[in-house]
Amino acid sequence: MQSGLRSKLLEAFSKADGEFLSGQKISEYIGCSRTAVWKHIEDLRKEGYELEAVRRRGYRITKKPDKISSNEIQLGLQTKAMGRNIHFAEEVTSTQKIAQTLAAEGAQEGTIVVADKQTNGRGRMARTWYSPSGTGIWMSMIIRPNIPINNTPQLTLLTAVAIVQAIEEETTLKPDIKWPNDILVNGKKLVGILTELQAEADQVHSVIIGTGINVNQLEEHFPEELRSIATSIYIESGELCERSKLIQAILLKFEALYSLYLSKGFIPIKLLWESYAISLNKVIQARTINGVIEGKAIGIDNDGALLIETDETGIERIYSADIEI
Ligand code: BTN
Repeated sequence: MQSGLRSKLLEAFSKADGEFLSGQKISEYIGCSRTAVWKHIEDLRKEGYELEAVRRRGYRITKKPDKISSNEIQLGLQTKAMGRNIHFAEEVTSTQKIAQTLAAEGAQEGTIVVADKQTNGRGRMARTWYSPSGTGIWMSMIIRPNIPINNTPQLTLLTAVAIVQAIEEETTLKPDIKWPNDILVNGKKLVGILTELQAEADQVHSVIIGTGINVNQLEEHFPEELRSIATSIYIESGELCERSKLIQAILLKFEALYSLYLSKGFIPIKLLWESYAISLNKVIQARTINGVIEGKAIGIDNDGALLIETDETGIERIYSADIEI
């Protein structure tokens, strides 16, 4: 089925919100014959959707496939721009890499790249990111904000807030944020965020925000060396979480915060971020490329840097580090 028609068909079912849709209504909505509608419905069935068909009433979706896919993300998505252009693949090296190519080719703001599995998932500070199939969210979002390069770290903090809000909405968990971009539950890492830029002089062309979320892994799914530091939504809440629904919630939260940020600046985002931060007002150690800085984390400043008050040098501004509390 052409992807435009499929999107319209899924959009029609989404708007019907579980009610029956007659073949006539569908054919008017997507602009094709009744026979073509029947064929499209059969295609959906082949993709794993279960549809109930009742004479004189029409069709309704009773079960969506368990897999993560463009359709799944699209069905019920309430955003205006975020996720309106989806590149999904079962397996990629890294969604960041694909998003970078798409961004350089002019992909529109809000484009997302999602994969079920990454073979070379990348983390911060040249680390790898474990991204097996069937259990996690490996997603990169492309945005094109008209902001100075120095302000782009703010977007990492904004994304962390959006993800925490979405997780709180979709699960029973109450995650914490550890500066700048780790989302933790019970002290273990649930989510990582990697923000990369395409820029020239002081002009930002695109910002690519990669998020890795451990969703339905069991403890034994993680390699031995990660078990003491990583966790998943399932391990922490005891409940499986539908990945595509969580992606939809993240995109919606992100869109709302991003629009607030573009209209009102960083201050409202900063206040929200601080409300979730665990590292503030504590003595921490920041491992930077220039060495370890120890002191009290007293806040973040307006460009997203962490402010650490040390005995020796006064207030230090940190842009990139690993934090130990
Ligand atoms: C971190 O080190 O905490 C950041 C991890 C970011 C991982 C995500 S998964 C989707 C996107 N693609 C990548 O290769 N990395 C990011």
